[in-house]
Order: sequence, then structure tokens, then C-alpha cells
Amino acid sequence: MNKSSPIGIFDSGVGGTSIWKEIHQLLPFENTIYLADSKNAPYGYKTPEEITSLSIKNTEALINAGSKIIVVACNTATTNAIDTLRSRFSIPIIGIEPAIKPAALKTHSKSIGILATKGTLSSTLFHKTSMEFANDISVIEIVGEGLVPLIEAGKLHSLEMIALLKKYTRQLIDANVDYLVLGCSHFPYIIPELKKLLPSHVKIIDSGEAVARQTKNLLEQMEMINDTNVIPSLQFYTNANTATLQFLLQSYSEKISVAKKDF
Ligand code: DGL
Repeated sequence: MNKSSPIGIFDSGVGGTSIWKEIHQLLPFENTIYLADSKNAPYGYKTPEEITSLSIKNTEALINAGSKIIVVACNTATTNAIDTLRSRFSIPIIGIEPAIKPAALKTHSKSIGILATKGTLSSTLFHKTSMEFANDISVIEIVGEGLVPLIEAGKLHSLEMIALLKKYTRQLIDANVDYLVLGCSHFPYIIPELKKLLPSHVKIIDSGEAVARQTKNLLEQMEMINDTNVIPSLQFYTNANTATLQFLLQSYSEKISVAKKDF
């Protein structure tokens, strides 16, 4: 393992590419390998044990591919499996958690919404964070049932998507939230539709940029930033269909490689 070894990133599917985009923007010379475990998506309805065993499988595949650091670009995997991953593997591991803290600190209406998977909202880690930072405000927890499969299928603006989002945003409007926390890495892709449905004063926040900053800080501490300034290798693998990955990454199509592979 050396400075030019890749940053290994995984998600239950295509959603973590929203995190990859932030990482690539901040660290444009880093080589990256992304695994989309779309064959097993969504993770959101699996048990903590199942999520943990899939997360171990993905981490092992990224370590075997020579990664210097692992980014778990999935809230569901982070909130259910990060402790196990960190105790099992010696490689540095960064996770993603819903940005409850900044929303709780900034809210004026004392009411914030969180849209995430069932697996994230029912996890012990999420409850701990929520109790610690949002004990004195109301947190409207919404399980985004049905959203991840639609995003996996690339149906970002479909009628089914809009119908589901209308239902979820109605609950947020009724509860007078002024912040909506996106607690799933798939959901930045539906911000345009959410914005059409929410009042303009409602701010939508996600954790992508914070994860990218944390990745950079940790690599700096490890003295493992790739300082070669060579065009990086940006590899994406999915164990299902490549179509949605290609669609979501179309603006990078000349720089990246996308392939199907079992892992
Ligand atoms: N992208 C994932 C997350 O951040 C998981 C979605 C799922 O597989 O249910 O939570």
C-alpha cells in the first residue's frame, strides 16, 4: 500500500456515487475504486447482522483491491456495521452518518426532518446521535420506503417517485420543519424533486461534503495523499446492471471505467 493506492468506497448500490463526487472534487488526483452492491440493495430492510456481513464482504473486496483507506458511503451500513468493521480490519475506515447535529444547532422552528432508511433510523448509533444533539427539539423521522429501488432503477423523476415524495414532504410541512436531513447517500439525487415540493425556506442538508473533508484530513494525517498529479484511475464496479451507474456518472464518462463484476 502506498500513496497512489486507491481510496476504496462502497455502498449498497449507486447512491454512494453522490459521496464519490464530493471526494473526487476535493481530491481530484486520488485513484478510487467504488463498489455498488446493487445485487443486494436495498440494505435498508435487512437485519443488522445481514448488513454487517455484506459490509464485511465489501470491505474485504476493497482491501484485496489494494485500497489505502475505506469510505463506507452508506448510512445504513455505517450505523449498523462500522464498529464491527473497525474492530475487524486495521485499515482506516470512514463512515457516513445523518447530519443531525448541524440541523439541530441551526433550526429556528425547533423541528427538523430526517429522511433515511428503516435500517438507519432503527439503529442504535442513530438513536445515540439523536439523543445527544437533538434532545430538545422535535425530530420527524421518515422512512423513505420505496425511494432506494426507484433510484437504483434510475427513475429519479418518475410519477412513482413524485407520488412518494409528495406523501413524505406533506408530513414534513405539517410538522413545520425548517431543515431536512438526508440520511441516505441515494437521496442527494432526488434533491431537485424535493425542492419542488418543499417550501423555499426549508434547507436540505446531507453529509457528502463532510465525508470528503474527513477523508482528506485522515489521508493528510496518514501522509498518504497522492501527490503525483497523474490522471487518476477511477474504477466503478457493480454486481448488477451497469446502466444506472453510467447514467448517474455520465458527466464523468470520459474519465471513468464502469464494469459488472461479482464481489
Ligand atoms: N445508500 C444507503 C444509505 O445511505 C442505503 C440504501 C439502502 O440500500 O437501503 O443508507
